Amino acid sequence: METHPIFKIFDSVPRQGAGDDEHTGKAFSLIAEQRKGGGEILDVGCGKGVQTMALARLCPSCRIVATDIYQPFLDAVDEKIVAGGFSGRIKTVCASMDDLPFGEESFDIIWAEGCSSIIGIEKAVLYWKKFLKQGGYIMISDIFWFTESPSDEVRKFFAEFHPTMMTEEKGFEIIQKAGLEKVGSFRLPSSVWEESFYGTLRGKFKELEEEFADDETALMIIGGLKRQTKIFEKYPDEFGNTYLIMKKPL
Ligand SMILES: C[S@@+](CC[C@H](N)C(=O)[O-])C[C@H]1O[C@@H](n2cnc3c(N)ncnc32)[C@H](O)[C@@H]1O
Repeated sequence: METHPIFKIFDSVPRQGAGDDEHTGKAFSLIAEQRKGGGEILDVGCGKGVQTMALARLCPSCRIVATDIYQPFLDAVDEKIVAGGFSGRIKTVCASMDDLPFGEESFDIIWAEGCSSIIGIEKAVLYWKKFLKQGGYIMISDIFWFTESPSDEVRKFFAEFHPTMMTEEKGFEIIQKAGLEKVGSFRLPSSVWEESFYGTLRGKFKELEEEFADDETALMIIGGLKRQTKIFEKYPDEFGNTYLIMKKPL
């Protein structure tokens, strides 16, 4: 089966989503303080594993299973595992996030930076919850509306490219309906979007357009990403990344 161009486009940058080690650490601290670290972590949609490595450093006694649907990303994670001396503590598994090959209640923490909305936040939380031990945590970071009344340009863009994007309040409701407890949440500063993701992507657009000159789907994705970076520059307060930490009650 031919690889969808979106994977190759995201392969051109070091991180596949917005974020950085500082905010991975901030989210992890909300969990670590309460469960004193340790345990089994499932890192879903891990991309090239930047946050996987951050988690491994944050929690030296944790074991991590890093999963993604795109094997070349996992190959990059495998290289980082060896380079970081994490063999034996981190392993990679190629699997779709809605069809995970793990037993129920296998993990203490499920970590999903920038990927739960791929299958839908509600579906993700409801499905992943069963892989979590009682008292375990799910951390998702994803793109949310920061306003109920976005500007026309922003609303039209997301109606086309991410029609299911929701407000943070709706995200909190989903957690509650799923029978999980909200532990905490915070927003990623817009400067980190620029530094960690949009900035690097912007530097690649020309090269990507040349590489994919004959690929209509790829050009459409690149065009969408170009528009998104511009919209974010103009309206950084209307949408962005929120980290949401939730707990499966004991
Ligand atoms: C926006 S990126 C986030 C990557 C990484 N967590 C980060 O924050 O840099 C989304 C990731 O989800 C992966 N992905 C897409 N569809 C998937 C699926 N159905 N199952 C598992 N992973 C998937 C992509 O390959 C990509 O690595």
